[in-house]
Amino acid sequence: MRMVDLIAKKRDGKELTTEEINFVIEGYTKGDIPDYQVSAWAMAIYFQDMSERERADLTMAMVNSGDTIDLSAIEGIKVDKHSTGGVGDTTTLVLAPLVAALDIPVAKMSGRGLGHTGGTIDKLESIEGFHVEISTDEFVNLVNTHKIAVIGQTGNLTPADKKLYALRDVTGTVNSIPLIASSIMSKKIAAGSDAIVLDVKTGAGAFMKTAEDAKKLAHAMVSIGNNVGRKTMAVISDMSQPLGRAIGNSLEVQEAIDTLRGRGPADLEELCLALGRQMVYLAGKAASLEEAEEQLKEVIRNGKALDKFKEFIANQGGNPAVADDPSLLPQASFLIEVPARQDGVVAEIVADEIGTAAMLLGAGRATKDSEIDLAVGLMLNKKIGDRVQAGESLVTIHANRENVDDVIEKIYANIRIGDHAEAPVLVHDIVTE
Ligand code: URA
Ligand code: CA
Repeated sequence: MRMVDLIAKKRDGKELTTEEINFVIEGYTKGDIPDYQVSAWAMAIYFQDMSERERADLTMAMVNSGDTIDLSAIEGIKVDKHSTGGVGDTTTLVLAPLVAALDIPVAKMSGRGLGHTGGTIDKLESIEGFHVEISTDEFVNLVNTHKIAVIGQTGNLTPADKKLYALRDVTGTVNSIPLIASSIMSKKIAAGSDAIVLDVKTGAGAFMKTAEDAKKLAHAMVSIGNNVGRKTMAVISDMSQPLGRAIGNSLEVQEAIDTLRGRGPADLEELCLALGRQMVYLAGKAASLEEAEEQLKEVIRNGKALDKFKEFIANQGGNPAVADDPSLLPQASFLIEVPARQDGVVAEIVADEIGTAAMLLGAGRATKDSEIDLAVGLMLNKKIGDRVQAGESLVTIHANRENVDDVIEKIYANIRIGDHAEAPVLVHDIVTE
């Protein structure tokens, strides 16, 4: 087999065989096939697309390029959840204990990563003592006994994806549905769960700016999952404005605790229920999505969800008292209000730019070596569709520096007040095939 022939075949719109796709991915991972040939191949895929079979083959070739996690020692159906990324997305912190409270095993491998705020692990580390440096045996034991544990990323997962994603980043081939879908799904499949629930975001703060593109990506990922034997469903959700009110690490932990008590922001609760009911259904604990949702609401009402959160924190060395006393979380030194400059209705809150404002305070990493300040961030006091009077606070800045003029400027530039606006639809679509 010659790489040049496979580039030409795809360029001409023909379907590649399983062997041909394996040849490209194995050769590229080993370093036998050079970057320039793989970039031409990726560009051919960008223009010619891939069939469902090719997408599944590409995904599995990347899964098989490195280690895979074996969760078979954990009893029950393991359901993982993945979000394509947004601003102030606190859902994992809520969903993990919420679903575990229904005796569904949550074996979460998580990262830190770059972004407007830290990853799930950074957020959890704002709880004193909490740590994810546990052995695989301990991880398995915790999930079998308590149904929930979080561990840091281990092993050399999907090296082919790492290499290909970095190459796509500099060759104009990131924005391709078959390449994005196989990239995301390869990582989820290598992480070992039996079923996968996807939260595909759409809007300014998302990868996919329109609901139509988000739907195409969701279908592509759901079909890959189902074709390789992992039950998969997706929710398409709005990310035109940040989710919930909190953007920041300890602020989001507090927001998650409020939501587990049934007192969280309406949009965050709605999305957690939409994703949670798919997780419960795929885990085989409910006969329908409606029944699954009732079960979730019940464990919020009866306090089991919050108790599960405390149990989870204590198991991994953290102080569970934070659940009842949020002042135990890191607190910023300065609280600064950003008042509205006119009367009206909030018409726009540009998610990614507001996320960047939180990052300027130190809530997220600009480069992989930057330090995160767990205490800082933003609290949105108004969301799209809310009426506001001049002088009323739009946002509360939690800062550890006194001068935050840069942050205030960014907030004013990205919250627009108009005459009328409606709250955006949060859940656009449910994708099951
Ligand atoms: N996120 C990924 O992990 N891969 C892509 O290709 C795009 C977004
Ligand atoms: Ca939030």
